[in-house]
Amino acid sequence: NNPHVSAVVERLCATVPDYPEPGIVFKDLTPVFADGPALKLVVDSIVAKFAGKFDAVAGVEARGFLLAAAAAYATGTGVITIRKAGKLPRDVYAESYALEYGEATLELHQEDVPAGTRVLILDDVLATGGTLGAAATLLERTGAVVAGIGVVLEIDALPGRENLPGREIVSLLHV
Ligand code: PRP
Repeated sequence: NNPHVSAVVERLCATVPDYPEPGIVFKDLTPVFADGPALKLVVDSIVAKFAGKFDAVAGVEARGFLLAAAAAYATGTGVITIRKAGKLPRDVYAESYALEYGEATLELHQEDVPAGTRVLILDDVLATGGTLGAAATLLERTGAVVAGIGVVLEIDALPGRENLPGREIVSLLHV
């Protein structure tokens, strides 16, 4: 990894103890998104690692949307919208997964992704890997090919990578 990029993320990332529950240390990347040069740096750094390998970018609600939209715009590709349950109006595939705190379900429109599309999945944080694993499964159920996974920050104390076997994962900062 480029040490300059990692240092920018480390400087701007806010660490919030006991959020959203006691015992959880929350990594808040909204200050990275709020900083113009930092947002550009993180998005450009991730897409550069997957240059030529994807046709579309998927974002996971909510913070993943910010990265995905920026990455898609920067590369002239489209955004695929993976949402929390109950938000998408047409027929969906659904995948439930365990979060570090609680459980959740993600959904994807069955017809939003042409079969064979190579999709780069983006999110802000890789923690347990539950979210990104569900996102990858949803895309594959539509016939897409997962080109890779990009996150700004990866929490090394949690088994995110082990829970995403065989996936190419790029993280700009490990904590
Ligand atoms: C956070 C984060 C990732 C996910 C990572 O999302 O943005 O999507 O948790 O955790 P995991 O690797 O253990 O699955 P959150 O559920 O807080 O959703 P939000 O972005 O809508 O706030």
